[in-house]
Amino acid sequence: MKKYPMYADDICTHTSDDYEKHLGAVITPLFQNSLFIQKKGESYGSGEFLYSRMSNPTVEVAEKKLAELEKGEKSLCFSSGMGAISSGILSSIGHGAHVICVRNVYGPTRSFLEVFCKRFGIETTFVPGLEVQDFEKAIRPNTKLIYLESPTTFLFWLQDIEKVCQLAKANNLLTMIDNTWATPLYQNPIEMGVDIVMHTASKYLGGHSDIVAGALISGEERMNKIQEEERAWLGNTIDPHTAWLMTRGMRTLPVRMEKHQQQGIAIAEYLENHPRVQQVFFPGLKSHPQQDLINKQLKGFSGLLSFIPAGTDEQILEFVDSLKWFQTGCSWGGFESLVIPIGFGMDAETEERLGVPHGLVRISVGLENLYTLLEDLDQALAKLPLAKKR
Ligand SMILES: Cc1ncc(COP(=O)(O)O)c(C=O)c1O
Repeated sequence: MKKYPMYADDICTHTSDDYEKHLGAVITPLFQNSLFIQKKGESYGSGEFLYSRMSNPTVEVAEKKLAELEKGEKSLCFSSGMGAISSGILSSIGHGAHVICVRNVYGPTRSFLEVFCKRFGIETTFVPGLEVQDFEKAIRPNTKLIYLESPTTFLFWLQDIEKVCQLAKANNLLTMIDNTWATPLYQNPIEMGVDIVMHTASKYLGGHSDIVAGALISGEERMNKIQEEERAWLGNTIDPHTAWLMTRGMRTLPVRMEKHQQQGIAIAEYLENHPRVQQVFFPGLKSHPQQDLINKQLKGFSGLLSFIPAGTDEQILEFVDSLKWFQTGCSWGGFESLVIPIGFGMDAETEERLGVPHGLVRISVGLENLYTLLEDLDQALAKLPLAKKR
């Protein structure tokens, strides 16, 4: 058996196995304890583990797998994706700093920057991010961080990660990216120069819609600092049981992602060719306008995509309600197919500011049978008028 696994499937299945240490148990047991007592006579903190807010053997299994998958030195897990995002951002900035963030970013990330960080004198400029110049033009003397989400998870626009990182390095700025859509299997931003990679494990990493968790991956020095400062002080460490479930999810990540990808592509192509659909947004489509960047950055695709059906608001919302297998829900990346109407109930100015077109519907393609899902879409789309293709 190889000592250091090289392939993602080997990392997902076997990194951190330690049969000898754990009485031959085939998986690392669940250490559901807050405290690790110290040996009498030994100094405080001299043991391998001390207190589960700082570190825990069950949590370390998930962290080691993620660090290897993302080709980073060290990973830390958090109680949610937002826990990871807020800790990563706060570790990169100080009072009076300026952040540049991609406009289409996940809503609560935007609010964290726009509302929470603003209370502490931090300003953020949101840029479209399609051109590297968008970031360059926004740089100020007090800029500290460029925050990316590529692809974005409403319209699936990519940012040129390598070029943005070169710009950041030339200006002494840090870069952080939300890599959740691609998973560590299909995109490795550290190899492209990114300083901090973030995942919400509530999506594909967990994969079973039974946990809320998050993770950061970066260099050892930065991660040690976050472990001792942001994660320890904000107290947003992952719970061992959640980490145990996360590891269980990660063991099957490669096989699940293969099916999410296959079905995502098949459904995106079906929707693109459907006469009652105006436009489809998905990096796995040959019609996506950023083919060069897709080939450069992505090694595969997941199953989250969006589209604009034909019809009035009422007709589109009725279409969403008439889907039988796609349950309506805001999350994604689980075993189950989901649908969410996104581009509704906003005024034109908000749609423009957030970069969300009117009538946008997002689906997370799950692991059900492909023909079951296609039939479901077929019966629901049949009620809509014919589309003017965009
Ligand atoms: C793209 C993206 N990033 C981050 C998050 C936040 O993750 P969590 O819900 O685990 O805090 C989400 C949640 O939906 C998301 O969709």
